[in-house]
Amino acid sequence: MSEKLNLPIRPRRNRKSPAVRGLVREVQLNPSDLIYPLFIHEGAENEPIESMPGCHRWTLSGLVGEVGEAYAAGVRAVVLFPKIEENLKSSEGSECYNADGLVPRAIKALKKAYPDLAVITDVALDPYNSDGHDGIVRADENGELKILNDETVTVLCRQAVCHADAGADIISPSDMMDGRVGAIRDALDAAGHEEVSILSYTAKYASAYYGPFRGALDSAPKAGDKKTYQMDPANRREALREADLDIAEGADMVMVKPAGPYLDIIKQLADAVDVPVAAYQVSGEYLMIKSAAKDGWIDEEKVAMESLIGIKRAGADMILTYFAKDVAKQLASA
Ligand code: PBG
Repeated sequence: MSEKLNLPIRPRRNRKSPAVRGLVREVQLNPSDLIYPLFIHEGAENEPIESMPGCHRWTLSGLVGEVGEAYAAGVRAVVLFPKIEENLKSSEGSECYNADGLVPRAIKALKKAYPDLAVITDVALDPYNSDGHDGIVRADENGELKILNDETVTVLCRQAVCHADAGADIISPSDMMDGRVGAIRDALDAAGHEEVSILSYTAKYASAYYGPFRGALDSAPKAGDKKTYQMDPANRREALREADLDIAEGADMVMVKPAGPYLDIIKQLADAVDVPVAAYQVSGEYLMIKSAAKDGWIDEEKVAMESLIGIKRAGADMILTYFAKDVAKQLASA
């Protein structure tokens, strides 16, 4: 016979039934928190992406169909990534501001099909740049490759205005050049786009977790790495410095990327700033869950959901995730 413990406080009382657990739950993931990143290409067929099982390079009509499914499950925001044909790439990446380019056409198709969808576009040169960098690359007098900051920002401004002209709701610079948020804000305002928002990749780390994404777009750097513009994974205070600058320059929202391995950074920014914080669960985070689940080692649905709840609990107001459609469906059927 075991003795009854004299325990006035029993935390398990708050976990005793689904109804009670529902009452005390602190963090709730909603489809409206999710941003669905989607890849597009000029091809005539939707193309499965080898490095990212479950993801495709969509044709424009494939894109509209896929977004329709996510929309039906409650997702109201997408972000677009184009795979640009080799012959359109150049060292200046000037295809990025072609008004008839792939991204402007995709924006228009989506806004026509779903007028209340928030269409977000990525602003950076890497899909368009023959060097595979987010900025313009030039060799200095010693032959060392440099990523030009101010020259790149000029091009990014044209790209941002081109996306806004096509109907983008939110411009999302992912390039990590200094001063780009302020310059893009000025360029948008000068073009009459003061209602277009800026979601800045504020604390974007030089991460090996982006590998599968670069496979999807064939956009890996041809030489060197991105460490002179993306942040060192070892740094925490630097994220605050970037956030202060981006907010002062007019960012409406700031982002931490990757998400899962950087929960402390999400929490730090959420505590420190007065704008909404986004987090990007990147391709490598997605792939790790996908591949472990493929062999039956883990339960994909449950782990995907838990990974996103962790990111939200850390302080993210919105999450970019390749699981957006699947998780929204899970939430809708729960
Ligand atoms: C490029 C960009 C990258 C991602 C989003 N925008 C790759 C990079 O910086 O090399 C990565 C997203 C992912 O891995 O899911 N500007």
